[in-house]
Amino acid sequence: TSSPIAMVGVLPPDLLERDRDRPFDPAPGLLERRDAPAVAPVELRNGARAWLVTGFEEARAVLADPRFSSDRVRHRDATQLGPGESGGTVPDAPPPGERTDGMFVFMDPPEHTRLRSLLVGQFTVRRMRALEDRLTEIAVEHVEAMRAAGTTADLVPSYALPIPSLMICELLGVDYADRAEFQENSAVALNAAAAPEARAAAAGALYSFIAALVARKRAHRDDDLLSGLAHDADPALTDAQLIDVALVLLGAGHETTANMLGLGVYALLENPEQLAALRADPSLIDEAVEELLRFLSIIQLGVSRVATEDVEVGGVTIPAGDTVVVATPEVNRDPRHFPAPDHLDVHRERTPHLAFGHGIHQCLGQQLARIEMRVGLRELIARLPDLRLAVPREQIPLRNDMLIFGVHALPVAWSEGS
Ligand code: HEM
Repeated sequence: TSSPIAMVGVLPPDLLERDRDRPFDPAPGLLERRDAPAVAPVELRNGARAWLVTGFEEARAVLADPRFSSDRVRHRDATQLGPGESGGTVPDAPPPGERTDGMFVFMDPPEHTRLRSLLVGQFTVRRMRALEDRLTEIAVEHVEAMRAAGTTADLVPSYALPIPSLMICELLGVDYADRAEFQENSAVALNAAAAPEARAAAAGALYSFIAALVARKRAHRDDDLLSGLAHDADPALTDAQLIDVALVLLGAGHETTANMLGLGVYALLENPEQLAALRADPSLIDEAVEELLRFLSIIQLGVSRVATEDVEVGGVTIPAGDTVVVATPEVNRDPRHFPAPDHLDVHRERTPHLAFGHGIHQCLGQQLARIEMRVGLRELIARLPDLRLAVPREQIPLRNDMLIFGVHALPVAWSEGS
């Protein structure tokens, strides 16, 4: 199975690819639109038309409006189409309520509500807080391993990726020893530049891996989230649903926080006065995490919806069947909503941002992500007081080819005995 994620290849590169000299800012095509209407048509590379939302209030209105559907399969989202394919509802798509799979991020109520409510109880603030001690252990272990091994490291594989990866594996009950297999397969499956056959093979391998895991949890109950879902869901989930739910959580729990940590550290190193402020007053960490989420908005153009009827937003009528793409990086820099939006400011007065989306699909893992970032940044900053980039910034590979922005690698250095 392939998941209906916006295809990077159909998005105009000037809206997606950030400028090498301004890697933390929205892509140049988005910055240019800052004075343009907050909802405007855009032509995708497959020839289809979509509507780009760059204003904060307009984005919030779209995401709160049930007339916009997340069901990209039933209502052919323009970001999913190949050249020459047309949008509009698929005539033979199963009607709502009759879907058997569990990709709830791409569903509408009532199916979405049912699947999501099974999970909400697992992701409470209280339960996530209880993970903080374990997360601290994981973070300390990894930063100490970096120090023990020398005075330089690539922060992505040695710190930013393993922390969220270990955590989601423990939560779900995935054997961390198997991570290489599924990390590689999910990277290939989601890589727009990979050959279609290679992507399909990787997606198939990932699916089989999770299917085997689900079968094990059905046969033997462990003390983890997947076991709980396998045995306690009422009404019971089918295997296909359970596999999809596991795939969504494993995927969403990995790439997102890992990139926020890697890019977040990079942004702090490039804004030394902000890093110094955070070092001087560690109690600012929650503000810093929120500000980094807003400032970096790593989910580039991945939040899209399809209008199920004509809907007016920001003075524009979106015709039924048309796709709306919320440009989160620019939405979170809307000058009408955030004063001095392009400034990273760990003292910024807390204002809600849309980095986790909004409405019924708002990120289920946001408390986990916040705690992972808080602990990850805190331990790194405290234990490596003179952390710095180890290469000139031109050599830091940006994830401009991916829907989830970040850095492919972040070579850093510190002094011995620091
Ligand atoms: C949904 C962002 C971390 C699980 C979303 C959405 C966004 C988002 C923007 C909304 C998608 C939409 O409306 O179409 C982020 C960011 C993260 C992060 C920026 C890290 C900093 C996580 C983690 C998990 C997770 C750690 C862990 C399991 C999910 C799930 C959904 C979701 C399951 C779908 C919710 C639904 O459809 O009801 N995320 N996420 N996310 N996220 Fe996250």
